[in-house]
This record gives sequence, C-alpha cells and structure tokens, in this order.
Amino acid sequence: MLPNKSFFQRFWKEKKMVGAISPSSTFLTNKMLENIAFDKTKVLVEIGPGTGVFTKKVLSRMQADSVFLVFELNTDFHQELQTKIVDKRVVFINDSAEKLQDYLDQFNIHKVDVIISSLPLSNFYKRFTLKLLRTFQSCLSDSGKYIQFQYSLKQKKELTHVFSKVNITFTLWNIPPAFVYTCSK
Ligand SMILES: C[S@@+](CC[C@H](N)C(=O)[O-])C[C@H]1O[C@@H](n2cnc3c(N)ncnc32)[C@H](O)[C@@H]1O
Repeated sequence: MLPNKSFFQRFWKEKKMVGAISPSSTFLTNKMLENIAFDKTKVLVEIGPGTGVFTKKVLSRMQADSVFLVFELNTDFHQELQTKIVDKRVVFINDSAEKLQDYLDQFNIHKVDVIISSLPLSNFYKRFTLKLLRTFQSCLSDSGKYIQFQYSLKQKKELTHVFSKVNITFTLWNIPPAFVYTCSK
C-alpha cells in the first residue's frame, strides 16, 4: 500500500504517537482479526485505530448486540473517524488507552473479550509499556485476547512478562512487514 497523505502528515507531526508512515495493509488487517471468534465476542476494544482500517473490518464482522470501544489519542484521527463511521455499536474515545478501566466503569462494562492494539510500543519507555499491558491484561475476561502488531520482536519480553501465553505470527505483506502477537491471560 502507498503511504496515505493525511496519515503521513500526522506521522510527521506526531512521530512517536503515530509510529507508522502509512495505514496497515489488508494482509495485516486479516492477520490481526483471524483468531477472533466474532460470534462469541460481546465487548471489543481497539487502541490506536488511525484511519480505521481495522475498525471498519471489525464492524463488518461483529454481532449486532456487541459493543466496540475505540481509543484514539490523536484528535485529528479521532474526529475523522467519528465523521466517517456512524454505527450505534461503536463508541469513539479521544483519550489514552491507559484509562481503559475508567471507561469500562463509566459504561458499566465488566470485562473485555478482545483488545486489538496498534500502539507503537517500541516508542514508549519500558515502564510505561508494562503499565499499559498490565492494565489491558486486568481488563480482559478469563478467555480474553490481547492482539497487538509490532514491526519487530523487541517487545516480546514485556508481552511474555505480562501475559501467560503469547503466540507470534508474521506477515511480509505490509509496509513495514509486521509481527502479530496474540496474547492470553
Ligand atoms: C501505528 S498507528 C496505527 C494506525 C492503524 N491502526 C493502522 O494499523 O493503520 C498507531 C496509532 O495509535 C495511536 N495512539 C498512540 N498512543 C495512543 C494511546 N496512548 N492511546 C490511544 N491511541 C494511541 C496513534 O495516534 C496512532 O493512530
């Protein structure tokens, strides 16, 4: 996929926060979502949707009575998504995903079945990454999954430290090629 102009402009403005020069490919999107049993998934969370490549696919597959909380810290991306996607199952939140538990309390949601994360973990301090991952782990249901892509294996240590099971797959068909970590409690 060629770099998308508005995505690249946001990367240029907020390199550490955005962490990629273009949206993820269809191949990576499919890899991120391939292990989700949408028919049994009631609460989904997406972290860092950017232009919404994963968001749209999730909405096309999730159940009519499921709930989808989407956290985007970048206000431009957040506003663009809110304008582009109108669906009563989704709540767009312009805030950092580190506050996930606060929002679950606010919406009276007990646990999350699936978290899909595009967070650029390699741009964060290790202590902050561990804090985020512990928050996500504690918000998951017992059979819940945390699915995260990264462009390297650098964060494997932190992910295996927090989650008891971490499965890693890879796709060459993305710019840059990416690893997908599927983690369970
Ligand atoms: C690598 S981009 C991925 C965009 C999109 N999911 C894709 O795959 O094309 C990472 C996204 O995470 C967002 N982000 C970074 N830190 C965040 C945080 N603490 N909470 C929520 N979103 C965050 C960025 O603004 C950016 O949109």
